[in-house]
Amino acid sequence: MVNATVPRIDQEPVSTKAYQAIREFIYQEAGIDLGGAKQMLVSSRLNKRLRHYTLQTLDEYADLLKNPAAGEERQMAIDLLSTNETYFFREPGHFEHLRKEVLQSHPQDRTFRLWSAASSSGEEAYSLAMVLDDFFGRRTNWEIFGSDISRRIIQKANSGLYQTHRIDAIPKDYLSRYCRKGIGRYEGFLLVDSKLRDKTRFAEINLTRNLPDVGLFEVIFLRNVLIYFDDLTKETIVRNLISKLRPGGILYIGHSESIKGMNLPLTLIAPTTYRKQ
Ligand SMILES: C[S@@+](CC[C@H](N)C(=O)[O-])C[C@H]1O[C@@H](n2cnc3c(N)ncnc32)[C@H](O)[C@@H]1O
Repeated sequence: MVNATVPRIDQEPVSTKAYQAIREFIYQEAGIDLGGAKQMLVSSRLNKRLRHYTLQTLDEYADLLKNPAAGEERQMAIDLLSTNETYFFREPGHFEHLRKEVLQSHPQDRTFRLWSAASSSGEEAYSLAMVLDDFFGRRTNWEIFGSDISRRIIQKANSGLYQTHRIDAIPKDYLSRYCRKGIGRYEGFLLVDSKLRDKTRFAEINLTRNLPDVGLFEVIFLRNVLIYFDDLTKETIVRNLISKLRPGGILYIGHSESIKGMNLPLTLIAPTTYRKQ
């Protein structure tokens, strides 16, 4: 039976069977819980893959994803189905808290390590790099590790290149100190200064899988990604991530997210801000 979702002119209708298969695929691969009513989203994001393969329906595409030889296409589908919305200095209260309450008390002789988990295209990581460089100067070494499940978005993060209409929230002082304005074919873009890019690295990491050996961090930003997971997945991800925090380390989650009621070794110290016990 074909369900009653009305597609836009450029979209393929999604049968119940195809929707369930794609919903199951992204849940198994990324832990993302699409819920029961994201047919329009699925259709609009995957439509270009139908054209690419000259397929007629999302049922055929869902079958293609089941093929074990379709590794590249499965990654492409993850890239397209994940939501990468982000911007510089998003939820600025966390940056203020970090500066006032966390950086102040860090011992000068130890490298300050921060993980932007689910970094998307890197705006969060580079915003943090600006704050760390500004605060520590040459006194204390620091490094930032960014990660995301999406290969395409990690490539973008590594480039450090952004369209200038997306930089409104960067403080003017930081703009002049840490960002280079593009010229010629890079007109309309800015490049994050190599001084920050050299201390910021990105990797493809799926938070629902065993985490690689990445060492211990003083701070982890895990913002605006928990909303896509069910409670069990959320709790597993947070538990795994806090094993990578030093004792006393800090976890920031997004302002619209909650980990209340989970039995985790964390103490709430400010809104959406936790200290590892
Ligand atoms: C909305 S963005 C948040 C970016 C940034 N943290 C912020 O707050 O602006 C969510 C990111 O989570 C990533 N993501 C979704 N599922 C993931 C998973 N299982 N493992 C790692 N990253 C994932 C998506 O690819 C996306 O880039």
